[in-house]
Amino acid sequence: MKPGLSLMKHYLQFKDLRAEEYAYLFGRALAIKTRFKNYERYQPLVDRTLAMIFEKASTRTRVSFEAGMYQMGGSVLNLTTGDTHLGRAEPVEDTARVISRMVDIVMIRTYEQSMLERFAAHSRVPVINGLTNEYHPCQILADIFTFIEHRGDIRGKVVAWVGDGNNMANTWLQAAEILGFTVHVSTPSGYEIDPAVAGVRDTNCYKLFNHPMQACEGAHLVTTDVWTSMGYEAENEERRKAFVDWCVDEEMMAVAQRDALFMHCLPAHRGEEVTAEVIDGPQSVVWDEAENRMHAQKALMEYLLLGRIG
Ligand code: CP
Ligand code: NVA
Repeated sequence: MKPGLSLMKHYLQFKDLRAEEYAYLFGRALAIKTRFKNYERYQPLVDRTLAMIFEKASTRTRVSFEAGMYQMGGSVLNLTTGDTHLGRAEPVEDTARVISRMVDIVMIRTYEQSMLERFAAHSRVPVINGLTNEYHPCQILADIFTFIEHRGDIRGKVVAWVGDGNNMANTWLQAAEILGFTVHVSTPSGYEIDPAVAGVRDTNCYKLFNHPMQACEGAHLVTTDVWTSMGYEAENEERRKAFVDWCVDEEMMAVAQRDALFMHCLPAHRGEEVTAEVIDGPQSVVWDEAENRMHAQKALMEYLLLGRIG
């Protein structure tokens, strides 16, 4: 962290930042993206090191953080449970104390949010949530940045969540409370969101619907995710049966706003949570969404390490 920055911030949940900080970050993400697209070098993080700890698989999170950090002039360490003493029962607290004496920022993808919080509580440097069972804040940061790029301000808009009441759903709810939009949630019975885990106080930021078509009605954005998240593979067969009607198709898109967008954090399973016609169709912005992980996270790392620029 830059000397003189008074308060170290972690990014463990979406609600760790305020609306005005998000407005700043979306502006920085756009500025950083524009410079990158123009091949302008921007290296504010020379000599800074990012350690990434992966306890679950990743394509987008790994590539976006790694490429983004290198582009900003820094270095990256990629660690996994298997190749560190975390996999041999060294306490998370000790691991955090040691790693955070040698690197400048840490990104963790793990199972329980409590592991991330224990790490952060013993870290001298900012810690970023790269996905836990409970939340995926970097993804929603990129998703909202993508929405703004395509459609402008998200305040007052309706986002339809079709599918599992999972880490993505919880994070959408937190974002709705902070940024002033509404999430229309439809999940199969038994897979509902848990408002206590989502951690939202304002029950007006979401509405529950039994049928996914109802959730999609009038939505400005329709979004979904895999039926079985990482860590829940043993439930795969049971989930396939329960989720069969929660496949985003053209009928669902037809009842949303005419210019509604479709998003999916990826990886996707065509024919399960979304049809090929929708994810590969004209309303889908999933490739922009994936690319924007990198631009948004560059803005986030810059903010956590250097504070506001300019
Ligand atoms: N959306 C997302 O986080 O993708 P990865 O699992 O590939 O990182
Ligand atoms: N909900 C999914 C998101 C993957 C990026 C999972 O946790 O596996």
